[in-house]
Amino acid sequence: MTYTADNSRYQSIPYQRSGKSGLLLPKISLGLWHNFGSVDDSSNSRRVLLYAFDKGITHFDLANNYGPIFGSAEKTLGKVLKQDLHPYRDELLISTKAGYNMWDGPYGEWGSRKHLVSSLDQSLKRMGLEYVDIFYSHRPDPETPLEETMAALSHIVKQGKALYVGISNYSVEQTKKAGELLRNSGTPCLIHQPRYSMLDRWIEDGLLDFLEKEGIGCIAFSPLAQGLLSNKYLNGIPKSSRAANPHGFLQSSRITTELVEKLKQLNDIASKRKQSLAQMALAWVLKKPGITSVLVGAKNIEQLEDSLGCLKNLEFTADELTKIDGLLKGIKF
Ligand SMILES: NC(=O)c1ccc[n+]([C@@H]2O[C@H](COP(=O)([O-])OP(=O)(O)OC[C@H]3O[C@@H](n4cnc5c(N)ncnc54)[C@H](OP(=O)(O)O)[C@@H]3O)[C@@H](O)[C@H]2O)c1
Repeated sequence: MTYTADNSRYQSIPYQRSGKSGLLLPKISLGLWHNFGSVDDSSNSRRVLLYAFDKGITHFDLANNYGPIFGSAEKTLGKVLKQDLHPYRDELLISTKAGYNMWDGPYGEWGSRKHLVSSLDQSLKRMGLEYVDIFYSHRPDPETPLEETMAALSHIVKQGKALYVGISNYSVEQTKKAGELLRNSGTPCLIHQPRYSMLDRWIEDGLLDFLEKEGIGCIAFSPLAQGLLSNKYLNGIPKSSRAANPHGFLQSSRITTELVEKLKQLNDIASKRKQSLAQMALAWVLKKPGITSVLVGAKNIEQLEDSLGCLKNLEFTADELTKIDGLLKGIKF
């Protein structure tokens, strides 16, 4: 059936500029790391993508190796773009990345100009696109000069293959240097993509402040700690969860009795706020000044609908915040 986007799609979700740039991102963006690969049900993946766009989620985040198999999430998006979303290309922000292991040999990963340029060319082919909106260096490379990696990003923008560039998983020090190199090259860093959730707060030790000061946006990945910050694991490990999935990247050994006890108490706080635990965890990330957007993963429409519900209550009382901090103090994740 021919897809027509919902006319009310821009009425429910707020948009925020990425740092000091002109680019508006939805407060909730959709990531295709899991659930969009060749091992997944492609009709479900299509439904989630179209549902997201109908709800005003204009930003889809990918990487060269999202799948499994590597590259297949980009192919899934490419099919949906061709079949359904092609008329809406100018309403969409599509990002991809290169830097993690993608193909065999010395050029299949890390931060050389050779890897970044070739990888983006492959990504564009898989998605059937002429350009991406944001291209990221997926991780810092300790053995390639940062100058080379940043010059490659700038080159890609000048070629017209990306409109903006970003960095992911860079420390504060690396971000400072990368930001300066990019600014000097005339293609300023649009955004940083770090992991951030109630369970992993490393960006509070300087990175977030630096990004705000420099006018660089911040889009947080794994805000639900891959689903741990939901009610899913309160009574064991469900068969259909990421922790039970061999491709899941969430080791079941991390779901300790101590952690589950904390999650139950967090769930009680969320219930009192009339939210699911997932909604509270997303609201908690979004309340932080400097956070442009949260990148959620969603296995189905129901999860995405639930996550979008967080926007109804983004405020926290001082008492709630103290209780959350007290509960999670010392938790190693
Ligand atoms: N730059 C990087 O290095 C990097 C690394 C990782 C991720 N990312 C990006 O960030 C995106 C999001 O990461 P993520 O998938 O780890 O995010 P996440 O939102 O923390 O976890 C997603 C998982 O949580 C569960 N879930 C989602 N919504 C739920 C809800 N409302 N209620 C209950 N469970 C819910 C689902 O798990 P089940 O499948 O178990 O149901 C889902 O697969 C990725 O797709 C990718 O774009 C980037």
